[in-house]
Amino acid sequence: MARVAYVDGRYSDLPGAVVSVEDRGLQFADSVYEVIALVAGRLVDLDQHLARLVRSRRGLGLPAPMTDAGLRVVLREVVRRNRLRDGLLYLQVTRGQAPRNHAFPAEPRASLMVTLRSWTPFPSSLASGVAVVSCNDLRWQRCDLKTTGLLPNVLAKQRAQEAGAFECWMVKGGVVTEGASSNAWIVRDGSVHTHPLSHDVLGGITREVLLELAAANDIEILEEPFHPTDVRSAEEAFLTSTSSFVVPVISIDGNEIGDGIPGPVTRRLRELYRDHVYGPTG
Ligand SMILES: Cc1ncc(COP(=O)(O)O)c(C=O)c1O
Repeated sequence: MARVAYVDGRYSDLPGAVVSVEDRGLQFADSVYEVIALVAGRLVDLDQHLARLVRSRRGLGLPAPMTDAGLRVVLREVVRRNRLRDGLLYLQVTRGQAPRNHAFPAEPRASLMVTLRSWTPFPSSLASGVAVVSCNDLRWQRCDLKTTGLLPNVLAKQRAQEAGAFECWMVKGGVVTEGASSNAWIVRDGSVHTHPLSHDVLGGITREVLLELAAANDIEILEEPFHPTDVRSAEEAFLTSTSSFVVPVISIDGNEIGDGIPGPVTRRLRELYRDHVYGPTG
């Protein structure tokens, strides 16, 4: 079935969904985005994603393309027109179209584009765990803003792919910040560690929800930085993101982590997250 996209007031088939060559999202990556999972017809953690979109926008002084209520109507309409039950919804807000000039246009009008693609939640291929590699974190100093300036992330992911790995964990100042498109976690001495919120990492929505689920289930999580050597000696490791939820990590740079299979803490957190997404009986 043809995919339907939304661009600035218009719903159209994907090939007809176009932006101007003078859009500042294209010219300068002057734009922010969100990726939201659609599971069984429901946009998972929609409120948290829209709240982060506002934080990212404000961090760049980027105007809203429309009201929050209007945006929710557009998202629902994109879901309806695509007739999907499970998918990944992508939305991007740019500082709009203007003659190319680095400084903001005098009266910017934000552009909004929304797409949805088919996707399988919790694929069995990821349940048995994935490999990661490590690389230098080449990104800028506001990684907490979800901007489309993703070239270092793209290079990191490509490096992972060429190494036959699923993800690249980036290292800055001797500590693991996060993955190219996911947050990084290890289990050490029985407790779970992940990098604290700072300008060096994206506050993942999966991360945020998992922290709440862990707290409600008496699982200790320490928001503390860890080193690549800590990963190699960890009992378990995993990564989180909207597009993969909770995925066991079983090796880093070719070194097995723990027993080289998904550990009990990771499996428990993955189950808690699955219950959060589907409901306990789902
Ligand atoms: C750099 C980075 N860190 C973390 C995440 C995970 O965030 P979320 O759980 O909101 O998908 C992403 C998601 O794309 C990301 O790009």
